[in-house]
Amino acid sequence: MKREQWGSRAGFIMAAVGSAIGLGNIWRFPYMAYENGGGAFFIPYLFAMITAGIPFMIMEFGLGHKLRGSAPVVFSKLNTKFEWLGWFQVGIAATIAVYYVAVIGWAMSYVGFAIDQSWGTDTNAFFFGEYLKLGDNSPTSLGNWQLHIAIPMALAWAITFVAVFTGVKGGIERASKIMMPLLFIMVLLLIGRMIFLPGAVDGLNYLFTPDFSKLSDTKVWSAAYGQIFFTLSVGFAIMLAYSSYLPEKSDVSNNAFMTVLINCGFSIMAGVLIFSILGYMAGEQGKAITDVVSGGVGLAFVTLPAAINLLPAPYILGPVFFLALVVAGLSSHISIIEAVTSSIIDKLNISRKKAASLVCGIGFAVSMAFATNGGLLLLDLVDYFINNVALLASCLIELVILGWLIKISDIRAHVNRVSEFNVGIWLEVCIRFISPLMLAWIVGSNLLNTFENGYGGYAQNELLLLGWGLTAALVAVGIIINLVSRPVRGTTNEQEGAA
Ligand code: ALA
Repeated sequence: MKREQWGSRAGFIMAAVGSAIGLGNIWRFPYMAYENGGGAFFIPYLFAMITAGIPFMIMEFGLGHKLRGSAPVVFSKLNTKFEWLGWFQVGIAATIAVYYVAVIGWAMSYVGFAIDQSWGTDTNAFFFGEYLKLGDNSPTSLGNWQLHIAIPMALAWAITFVAVFTGVKGGIERASKIMMPLLFIMVLLLIGRMIFLPGAVDGLNYLFTPDFSKLSDTKVWSAAYGQIFFTLSVGFAIMLAYSSYLPEKSDVSNNAFMTVLINCGFSIMAGVLIFSILGYMAGEQGKAITDVVSGGVGLAFVTLPAAINLLPAPYILGPVFFLALVVAGLSSHISIIEAVTSSIIDKLNISRKKAASLVCGIGFAVSMAFATNGGLLLLDLVDYFINNVALLASCLIELVILGWLIKISDIRAHVNRVSEFNVGIWLEVCIRFISPLMLAWIVGSNLLNTFENGYGGYAQNELLLLGWGLTAALVAVGIIINLVSRPVRGTTNEQEGAA
């Protein structure tokens, strides 16, 4: 089978940026910054971006382009013993895909609620009570299935399915070329209105005024690194798959820099947007910012609806905000599912249409666990382990392989041969020394901390099953595939065109 290709360089960049910019930027970044020292969070965040984000993106683009395959193919071609890491990453992507789509589904519902602010004045009671119907469920006792949550999730799956089923150029690239400009227009419109609201500047001061005492806290560094990998879609199979569709004559380093900088710039824009709204809300209510902000999912689905109630023309600004969240989420969800689909195509040698139907069908069924009363709690627990344990561990192992077990200078030479500008030895220094040291420290302390203190007050059996158990299962599945099947080699490539 011939490997598919992107139609143009702009198409590839739009798709890569579409993957990177997602719920992570609008839903997660602002509350990460808020919870981890406001302005001080930018120091670890930028440090992680420079020492890990950019080097990772260059390496993954370079590897995907050179070895032309999904994550399992890339690692298997480096050494057949490493194929399991590719499957571990595909497993992480598949897990993220099934809960990520739930948040897109909630955002879709909220586009509708925002039109007439039918969430009322008590947005907390509305979200947890009326909408999610959380009750006294738990991650292991999920309660009943909720059709009103399942329907928007099914719609999100349908859009992802059509894009992935249709193919790299006709589906994913075309969808990204519509979604990305639309997203930027919506967010710029929102910022243009919000920063002129009274009190907005107070919100921005809060976001950008650093609390340096937080810098000595490992959790802040862990959050920054975790956020960088999640937001850049590296370390979980996505960028390897996307760059494997690059034609022979393609730039790597410039494309990687652009993707990282556009993504991180967008995160800061989202932070500005959200903290302007919060500053305005605090002013309207005569409260301090710290009294109106909430962390976690509450920021997007409780605090912002309450703020939207106070905005001028909420029936326009509210739906536009949630529509932006939906569009950002969908373009990322497409990429997460493509990472899985492309690995299945490479391994089983089946058609894209079959693989996409299989992946989306199973994914849809599994994701229905999140459309239940206890879905939010399940999401919270799984998301914590995926981001703080599995994804960071996967990135650390990838760093060790790239930095120490293969000849990294070969990859850098390949990147420099095809790119518009050369990357220096700093790339190797980051991949071999700085990032693995930082990650080893972070992964070590996360493991210790989670072992000792658990997470979020969940019961031991829940942590064991859905946290540790799930992570171990993802590793085990990778190892079993690696041991029992022939090394995956993927599709061949038509090497023509330029992107
Ligand atoms: N990179 C995607 C996001 O930030 C997964 O949401």
